[in-house]
Amino acid sequence: MTIAGGQSFGPRRAGDPPDNLGSAGARSSGGAMLPAAGPALPGLFNAPAVAARRLAAPGARVLEIGTAWGFSAVLMGLVARSLVSIDPHDVWDTWPAFTANIKRYGLERVVTAYRMRSEDVLPALIAAGETFDFAFVDGDHAEASAEYDIGACLQLVRAGGLIGVHDYSQRWGGVVAAVKRQLAGLPAWRIQDLYLAVLPA
Ligand SMILES: C[S@@+](CC[C@H](N)C(=O)[O-])C[C@H]1O[C@@H](n2cnc3c(N)ncnc32)[C@H](O)[C@@H]1O
Repeated sequence: MTIAGGQSFGPRRAGDPPDNLGSAGARSSGGAMLPAAGPALPGLFNAPAVAARRLAAPGARVLEIGTAWGFSAVLMGLVARSLVSIDPHDVWDTWPAFTANIKRYGLERVVTAYRMRSEDVLPALIAAGETFDFAFVDGDHAEASAEYDIGACLQLVRAGGLIGVHDYSQRWGGVVAAVKRQLAGLPAWRIQDLYLAVLPA
C-alpha cells in the first residue's frame, strides 16, 4: 500500500539478513534484545517506552501513533514482526533522529513509517483492511485527537488485541476524557502502570 507523503522502509522478506533479535551480537536487558555494539539510543529505557514494549508481544503487528525520536518504536520494533509508525515529526523535528535510530537498531525491514498526521493515514489503513495486534496511542494529546485515534484503533486492532493509551493522567485531561468516552461498549479495561490505559479491542 502506498500513501502519499509516507516513507516505507519495506516489509521483512524470507531470506533477508537476520535482524537483532536473538543474534549472537545481541544482549538481553529487561526483556528487550539490544545490539551489543553501536551507540545506544539515549533514554531508550524511558518508562512509557518500556511499558509499551511489555505490551507488544513477540511477533506482534504493532501500530504506533506518535513516535518522535523512536524510543518506544525501537523497543517494540525489536520484538515485533512489523511496526507501522505514524508521526509528522513536526513538533520537535524528530524525523532525522528517528530514521537514524531505526537504522542503528537494524529495524529498516520491520518499520513502515508515515511522516504524516494520524488523521491522514488511519482512514486508508482501515479502508485497506489492515489489522494489528497492539496499538500504542501517543500522538496529539488534545481530547478530540486522542478520541479520534482511539476510535480508529478500535477498528484496526483485532479482537482480543490491545490498545495502550499513553499519558492517562491528571496532566492530560483530554486523554483521560477521550479514553473514558471510548470505553462505552467495551467489556473491560484497566490502568496499567506508567499512565497507560489499556483497552481490549
Ligand atoms: C510524546 S511524543 C511520542 C513519544 C514516543 N511514543 C516514545 O515513547 O518514544 C508525541 C508525538 O506525537 C506526534 N504527533 C502530534 N500530533 C500527531 C498526529 N496528529 N498524528 C501522529 N502523531 C502526532 C508528535 O509529532 C510527537 O512526536
